[in-house]
Amino acid sequence: MKLPELRIAGLKPSLPIFQGGMAVRLSTHRLAAAVAEAGGVGIIAGTAMTARELAEEIRKARALTKGIIGVNVMYAASAFAELVKAAIGEGIDLVVSGAGFSRDMFTWGRESGTPIVPIVSTARLARTAEKLGAAAVVVEGFEAGGHLGTDESMKKIVPEVAEAVSIPVIAAGGIVDGEDIREAFGLGATGVQMGIRFGASEEGNGNDRLKQAYVDAGADDIILIKSPVGLPGRAIRNAFTEKLAEGRVPAPEHCSKCLKVCSQVFCIREALINAQRGRLDDGIIFSGKYIEKVRDILPVRDIIGRLTSRLAELPAPPPFKRPLVRPATAT
Ligand SMILES: Cc1cc2nc3c(=O)[nH]c(=O)nc-3n(C[C@H](O)[C@H](O)[C@H](O)COP(=O)(O)O)c2cc1C
Repeated sequence: MKLPELRIAGLKPSLPIFQGGMAVRLSTHRLAAAVAEAGGVGIIAGTAMTARELAEEIRKARALTKGIIGVNVMYAASAFAELVKAAIGEGIDLVVSGAGFSRDMFTWGRESGTPIVPIVSTARLARTAEKLGAAAVVVEGFEAGGHLGTDESMKKIVPEVAEAVSIPVIAAGGIVDGEDIREAFGLGATGVQMGIRFGASEEGNGNDRLKQAYVDAGADDIILIKSPVGLPGRAIRNAFTEKLAEGRVPAPEHCSKCLKVCSQVFCIREALINAQRGRLDDGIIFSGKYIEKVRDILPVRDIIGRLTSRLAELPAPPPFKRPLVRPATAT
């Protein structure tokens, strides 16, 4: 099949594939640059970095590729504005905001000419984002890894959003192989965002023990946890999630106030850093729902090569038909 052309403001990646931002420090310059170099959009996850660290990551990615590099910052982060402005100051190609967005980020985008791409989980929010000036939306369903903004499937939400907006729609959540990508295009998406497939790559910035945990995990190991951010999170069951479920994880002694709102039941930042560093028994291993399809740690070049070869073999999906507007029933 021929891939759709993804255009986000003036940006034209040669492949309509975003690598999802993965904090804390799982998608850093090396992964983002490898994806950008292969023709996709590489995303550095800025959440829980300092502005200086994020700027440094952007410079390192730029030194490795001339491809498209974006940043992802979670709106829930206290340093959201500071990090987004730092990325814009470095001339980042686009900004993705996770788990919410603010009105003023669109002003920062407009003033600097930086495309702003919020992650949304409803058609209503997608429409609001478009009105505020979003250049595209990532539509993330329940199948995604990390914090979840919905309990609905990407397969239900993507067609609703594609119907509701005229900006590009990038589907995310549970997309691992060529068949998944084809299906997303058939639902009205013109791009896809993939998280865990790229997290489990050679260039992914997690410790080898973390990557091995991805490869070893089966469908039964996937659970939902209650994150102190106030959202559910999709993760791999481990000693830490068992302790959490039994209420045996002590509340943090120190708090850096890294989140705008936090229940402080446990420190999610520390748990994610532990996982990234391979201290898995004290860490939260965020993961997409279909981790069982990820069976090997590959270089990004090979992941993208396999995806594009498979897509070339597959027939085009049936054309996306906008759902018929139901006439109001007379009462
Ligand atoms: C380990 C991990 C960390 C993540 N961190 C973030 C993040 O910092 N910001 C964000 O918007 N999404 C985050 N996500 C979501 C991904 O960017 C992506 O949208 C999602 O994982 C897509 O689902 P998939 O993993 O099934 O492909 C994270 C996902 C994982 C697995």
